[in-house]
Amino acid sequence: MAAPQSVKEKHLYLKEIEKARQDLRALIYSKNCAPIMLRLAWHDAGTYEAKTKTGGPNGSIRNEEELKHSANNGLKIAVDLCEEVKAKYPKITYADLYQLAGVVAVEVTGGPSIDFVPGRKDSKKSPPEGRLPDAKLGASHLRDTFYRMGLSDKDIVALSGGHTLGRAHQERSGFDGPWTKDPAKFDNSYFVELLKGESRGLVKLPTDKALMMDPKFRSYVELYAKDKDAFFRDYAESHKKLSELGFKTPSLGSKVGIAVSIAVVITLAIVWDQLTDFNPDPYLVWKRFNN
Ligand code: HEM
Repeated sequence: MAAPQSVKEKHLYLKEIEKARQDLRALIYSKNCAPIMLRLAWHDAGTYEAKTKTGGPNGSIRNEEELKHSANNGLKIAVDLCEEVKAKYPKITYADLYQLAGVVAVEVTGGPSIDFVPGRKDSKKSPPEGRLPDAKLGASHLRDTFYRMGLSDKDIVALSGGHTLGRAHQERSGFDGPWTKDPAKFDNSYFVELLKGESRGLVKLPTDKALMMDPKFRSYVELYAKDKDAFFRDYAESHKKLSELGFKTPSLGSKVGIAVSIAVVITLAIVWDQLTDFNPDPYLVWKRFNN
C-alpha cells in the first residue's frame, strides 16, 4: 500500500489514522495486549541499518520469513491482532499501523504521549536475520546494534525502559517472568527494580544487567529511577526516533515549505516598497480628482 500523495488524500488518510487510533485503544484494552503491541512496533523498527538505509519501520515484520526470525517468536499474535484494524482501514500502511499500535500501547498503560507522524511506506523485503539485539550479550553488543540504527546511549537506556511493560515467556525467548511488579503499567519501575538488584519473581536479562555495569548507561538508569518525568520525556523522544528510522516526516517538509514561502513574500514586499517608493500626498490626489 502506497502512502498518500495529494493534499486531499493526505487529509483523508489523517482522518483514517485517528479512527484507527481509537480502534487500537479499544482493542488493546479489551485484549490486554499492550506489551506485545509495543514489542511488535519495536521489532519492526529495530532492524534499521542507517548505512544501507534498509530495514526499519516498514511493516516487513508481517512477512512469514521475518516472523520466523528467532527474536520474533510470539509476535504473530500481535500481527494477527492488527489485521482486525487493517481490515477496517485498508488504506493505512502496515508500517504506520504497527507504529501507531506501539504509541497507543504506551499511552493506554499510563506512559507519555508520543508524537505520531503518519506516512511510512510498506516493504515486502525483509532484512537479514540477526539485526535485533541478543538478550544474552552485553553493553558493547547493545552499542553496536543501536548505533547501527543511528541511535545513542541515551536512546538505549530510555528505550530499554519499555520493559516496564509485559514479561518474558519461557517458550518464546527462554527467559521467564516480568521485569516489574505491575507489568500492565508504564512507569519508571523497570529502573527502580534494576537498581535494587535481584528480586524474587522478577527477570533481568543480561542486556538489562549491562545497563547497570556500564558507567555511562548507569548514569541514565539512576536518573530515570529517581525522576519519572525525566524518563517519560526522554522515552517519548527516543520512541519517536525509533518509530521514524529511515522515514522523512512529511510534516517537517511542509513546515519548512511554509517558512520559506513566508520569507519570500516578506522579501518581495520589502524590495517592491524600495523600488517603487510610491508615497503620494493625499491632498494632491484629492485635488486632482476634484478638478
Ligand atoms: C535493549 C535490547 C533489548 C533486548 C535484548 C530485548 C529482549 C527482550 C526479550 C528476550 C523479551 C522476552 C520475549 C518473550 O519471551 O516473550 C522481551 C520482551 C519485551 N520487550 Fe524487549 N528487548 C530489548 C529492547 C526493547 C525495547 C527497545 C522495547 C520497547 C521500546 C522492548 C519492549 C519489550 C516488551 C514490551 C516486551 C514484553 C512483551 C510481552 O509481554 O509479550 N524491548 N524483550
